[in-house]
Amino acid sequence: MRVLIKNGTVLTDVDEYKADVLIEDEKIAAIGFNLDETADQIIDATGKYVMPGGVDQHTHFSALCNVGNKDTAGYETTDSAIRGGTTTIIDFAPQDPDTGLLDSIDYRINVRAKDKSCVDFSLHAMITYIMDSMFDEIKQFPEKGISNIKAFMAYNGSPLHCDDGTLVRIMEECKKVGATVFVHAESGEIINFLRDECVKKGQLTPRYHYVSRPPYTEAEGVHRACYLAEKTGVPLYIAHVTSREALDEIVYARGRGVNVNGETCTHYLTTTKKVLDNPDFNEAAKYVCSPALRDQEDVDALWDALNKGLLTAISSDHCGIDVKELKQAGRDNFTNIPNGSPGAGDRFAMIWTYGVETGRISKNKFVELISSKPAKINGIYPRKGAIQVGADADIVIFDPDYEGVIRLEDNPNGVDYNVYEGRKQIGKIDMVFLRGNLAVDDGKFVGTYGMGKFIPAEMYAACYNGI
Ligand code: URP
Ligand code: ZN
Repeated sequence: MRVLIKNGTVLTDVDEYKADVLIEDEKIAAIGFNLDETADQIIDATGKYVMPGGVDQHTHFSALCNVGNKDTAGYETTDSAIRGGTTTIIDFAPQDPDTGLLDSIDYRINVRAKDKSCVDFSLHAMITYIMDSMFDEIKQFPEKGISNIKAFMAYNGSPLHCDDGTLVRIMEECKKVGATVFVHAESGEIINFLRDECVKKGQLTPRYHYVSRPPYTEAEGVHRACYLAEKTGVPLYIAHVTSREALDEIVYARGRGVNVNGETCTHYLTTTKKVLDNPDFNEAAKYVCSPALRDQEDVDALWDALNKGLLTAISSDHCGIDVKELKQAGRDNFTNIPNGSPGAGDRFAMIWTYGVETGRISKNKFVELISSKPAKINGIYPRKGAIQVGADADIVIFDPDYEGVIRLEDNPNGVDYNVYEGRKQIGKIDMVFLRGNLAVDDGKFVGTYGMGKFIPAEMYAACYNGI
C-alpha cells in the first residue's frame, strides 16, 4: 500500500519546509518536492502541517490507582490518544500483585493491551511491590526492550512507595544495563505529616490536596533523587516537574555535574491550583493529581524551563479515573481521592494552543517536546518521533486554521469528564497514520482496536548520551 501526502508543510523539531511524503506499507519511503510517484491513495495537504505522531512518555492505562483497588481506564480508550495526535505512548507497567517486573510487563503486552491498544506502546518498568528478585530482573531489560524504570518516592504507606535504600540499589542495577531511572519525586513522609495535620483540623475538601503537598515537598524529593543519582552515577529523569522550587533543584544538581533531566505535563502548563478551590466536589476532584497543581509563577517557570532545555518533554500523565464513581471515594475526605486526570487526547491541542499560538514556544520546539525528544529519551528514535525516510509512518496532518473549543463529546476519553472542557482550541488534527495505516480521518477514529503494537526500546537512550 502506497500513500502520497502532497503539498503539505513538513514540520519537524528542526525544520519547516514544503514537501510531499510517500508512505510505503509501514514506513516513510520518500520525502521530496513535487514527488512524482504512483500511489494507491493521494492526500492533498495544502495549508496543513505534516508532523511526526506524538510520543507521550507518561501514561497510566489499565493501572492501579494510588488509592483504592480499582484500575484506570484500559487500552481500548487509547482511541482518544490517537484522535488527539499521539501515535506512541510509553505506558507505565506497574507490578501486578505479588508479580515481578517482567511478568507484569509480559501480562500487560499479552493481556491488558492485546487487541485493545490503538497506539503503539513501549513500557517503563514500574516498582509497585518491592521484591528481592526485582534487582536481578533489571539485568533482563535489554532483551525485553525495556530502557527505563520508574520508582515512586511518594505514596508512603501504599504498595507504590519505593524507599531510598531500594532506590539506590535500583539505580546501581540500572546503570549496569544502560537503563534510565525515572522518579516520582515527592517527599511522602512530609506529605503524610501535613496530610494528617489537615485531617486532624477537619480540613477535608479537595483544596487540602495542594495545601498538604506544597512545592517544597516536591523540591525535597528532587534534591534527594539528584543526590542519590550523583552517588550512583545513573542518569536520572524527574517525572512531572511542577514547580519553580523543583526546577531550582535541577539547576543546582546540573551545576555540579549530575546527569538529571525532567519533563512536565500539559495540566501543569495550563491550569493553576485555583480549580481545587471550587466548592463543588465533583469539579475540584477532577484535578486531584500528584504533584498538585501550582501557581501562575510556577506555570511561567515551567514554560521558561522548556525553552532553556532544563525540561525536555511534555507528557500527559494520563489517568482515566472517572468522577461519578472512583473519585467519589474522597467525597468526605480528600486523602481518599484517587490521584490523576485524563489528558492523552488533549496534549497536542492544548500545547499547540497555549504554547505555540501564545508564542511561549516555537513550532519546532513543539515537535521536539511532544514527539522527538520523548522518542529519544525512551530509546525508540528515529523509528518514532521523526519524519525521515525509514522511520515508521506515524504521521499527523494538522490544520492550523481551525478555531473551536475542547469538548469531551468530540474526543471521548473513556471517563466522564475532560479537565480542559470548554477551553479554547486552535488547530485540529485532520488525519493520523499509525505505521502507514489510516487511524484518524476528519478527526474520527477509523482504525481498529488492537492496531497498536509493542515497540521494544534500545538501551543507553538519550539520557546516557546527552539529550
Ligand atoms: O496523580 C497522578 N499523577 N497519578 C498517577 C500516578 C503518578 O503519580 O504518576
Ligand atoms: Zn504519573
